[in-house]
Amino acid sequence: MTMDIASLQQQAEDLRRQIRHHDRLYYIDATPEISDQDYDKLYHALQDLEAAHPELLTPDSPTQRMHGGIADGFQTVDHTVPMLSLENTYNAADLERFHESVLKGLRGETPTYVVEPKIDGVSIAVRYRDGVLVQAVTRGNGKQGDDVTANIRTIPSIPLRLNTENPPAFFEARGECYLPRAGFARLNEHRLAEGLEPFANARNATAGSIKLLDSHEVATRPLDVLFYTQGLIDGVEISSQQELFQTFAKFGLKTQKWLRVVHDFDGIKDAIAELDGLRQGMPYDTDGAVIKVDSFRQRAVLGMTAKAPCWAKAYKYEPERAATKLKAITIQVGRTGVLAPVAELEPVFLSGSTISRATLHNEDEIARKDIRIGDTVLIEKAGEVIPAVVKVLQERRPADAIPYDLPGSLHGKCPSCGGPIHRDPQFAAWRCENLQCPAQNVRRVEYFAARNALDIESIGGVVAEALCDSGLIREPLDLFDLTLDDMASLNLGTAEEPRVFGPKNAAKVLSALEAARTKPLGNWLEAMGIPDVGAATAFQLGRIHKDLAEVANSPYLKALLDLLDYQNGSAPHRVDAALPPEDLFDLRKPVGLDDLVPQLKRAGLIKKSSAKGAYVTTTIGPKTAQSVLTFFAGPIGRKWLERLATLDIVPRGENAGADQNADGPLAGKTFVLTGTLTSMGRDEASAKIRALGGTAAGAVSKNTTYLVAGANTGVRKTEKAAELGVQVIDEETFLKLLQQGRL
Ligand code: IVH
Repeated sequence: MTMDIASLQQQAEDLRRQIRHHDRLYYIDATPEISDQDYDKLYHALQDLEAAHPELLTPDSPTQRMHGGIADGFQTVDHTVPMLSLENTYNAADLERFHESVLKGLRGETPTYVVEPKIDGVSIAVRYRDGVLVQAVTRGNGKQGDDVTANIRTIPSIPLRLNTENPPAFFEARGECYLPRAGFARLNEHRLAEGLEPFANARNATAGSIKLLDSHEVATRPLDVLFYTQGLIDGVEISSQQELFQTFAKFGLKTQKWLRVVHDFDGIKDAIAELDGLRQGMPYDTDGAVIKVDSFRQRAVLGMTAKAPCWAKAYKYEPERAATKLKAITIQVGRTGVLAPVAELEPVFLSGSTISRATLHNEDEIARKDIRIGDTVLIEKAGEVIPAVVKVLQERRPADAIPYDLPGSLHGKCPSCGGPIHRDPQFAAWRCENLQCPAQNVRRVEYFAARNALDIESIGGVVAEALCDSGLIREPLDLFDLTLDDMASLNLGTAEEPRVFGPKNAAKVLSALEAARTKPLGNWLEAMGIPDVGAATAFQLGRIHKDLAEVANSPYLKALLDLLDYQNGSAPHRVDAALPPEDLFDLRKPVGLDDLVPQLKRAGLIKKSSAKGAYVTTTIGPKTAQSVLTFFAGPIGRKWLERLATLDIVPRGENAGADQNADGPLAGKTFVLTGTLTSMGRDEASAKIRALGGTAAGAVSKNTTYLVAGANTGVRKTEKAAELGVQVIDEETFLKLLQQGRL
């Protein structure tokens, strides 16, 4: 049966309407009505129809969220009306002045205010022409911003078409783009696992995500947008903030749930206090409240200054602080010998816990803040980090407060080993340079056993200290020589009041140590505490190398240094004068760019820079690369390698599973599995792929050779495969490939 084009079009529109409806229910209202499978069916039906009749395709079709390849950069676009920011206030007095200025400006009219949470994200303007999304623009300088349409289109809650039969000719909705807290945490976990630097906070991660050049990458970031104001609007009358929100809701544009309508200053204060109690529980970060005059007519009367409207104010919540007495300043000797001053405080309750110590950073900070022993100080806890001393309450300084002199108080000696201390000329830090300093040993053991490293639960600071003090161990690898009796009889108390570790805990430590032996290379690199190597670098190194021996002589790191030298026009880098002549990167045999670049690109260590033909490093810079090579070439690194060999510990890189067969028939082929396989589990399938030399990856990328689609496959991976031109094979074909090694 053939259908005329009009009825096919009708069919496509029908499917699109249904999909948009379910998208709204799922992404905006969070009340889905159909199962994922049923949704996928609708989606596939539309995809098939559009594939068979490309003439039916429209840019606002739900199948067209992702389009285009990798952008070179972003176009600068004019804002329809300036994108203003708000003036901040931090206290009730300022806010009261705002209210009074509104009353004055309105000459006797009473304002109605709307109080909304201030979302801590990145502002964005989204433009709809005749109801169809045409452009999305960042704030930029307020007059012009970047065109980030391709990226914003990938956000599932953003409608590609407004939900209305009679769309306005033009409608610009403005709001905040953000990463929900849970999504942000997941993103950082993935980044760490991939050897990438985690983002400092959700706002930075959002800003970074919106500016990615590859919209496929953006689509993997769980971004969302909440709308709260408008740009240019043509073809719909809106006369207040409350009406604006109703219009947003009608059009399918997502808005915040929490909102208070108040009429006076007490109402504003109550709303702000109520919000402060709630905001910790919100799924996204907020840093204040925004108070807006509701009526647009009244807004026009109130007008604006050069920078900000006079009809709205942002009230920022202060991070929680507490005042307490600084009893003493002690010194903690760090893993690298840095002497860190620590504030010993009168215990005080702050943001859910009792604080008795806080960091003072370094000598210069103490001087800059003029912190003296005996002072009353303000301490602050921002997020998860260790509390810090913000400032001294000068008015509460006692006459006998004592200024602090770091080297003087230590009589020029390390408080742990009594060795000499030096001030690093480049940094504000004093250091103990004795590598055998007991305090440094303790910190190194603690670091070695930390969760990020070898995760030897129950070896924290106290146990590490007891082990070192008792002479049972001197350095981390000594842990592997401990016996059950050694551990069980370890005294964590004092000679007068002993408190033994006990056999049960001892057994736990020994089994954690046993598990640590086979932890991946990345964890071991982290545990070794190589200078300049943080967790992200350690995991990145672990991902691209086979084993420690390869890291120690890393062809990647050498190539990276060579490439940078080559680009800088300096003589190629010589890492090790004793390189054997056959070494791939031996400089006596000059190597051209062509040899280095593909390897480094594949390892994710470099990317193209904006300068033509040049490359820049990604996670690992030249200083770190050199530091790793120097470490392993020096006595400490060599000792690690020797000891590990004696202990028969051979950490493996992720890409070098013992079962990997580099010459196998599937060598160089990358597989991604999706859906359920009937003949075997995923782990088994992955193992089989590796045994034949292939790689099993988690996500579809342009490096994927085959996407193996089992039963009940979701749309995401197959859609991505289709876009990237990756071949999708079914289970039967996959089995054939495993058997025959080829198709
Ligand atoms: S209204 C004309 N409402 O905070 C001003 N802004 O410093 C329109 N923000 O640039 C802004 N949540 O990026 C408004 N509920 C909210 C907000 C909000 C966050 C951001 C926005 C703005 C900045 C003001």
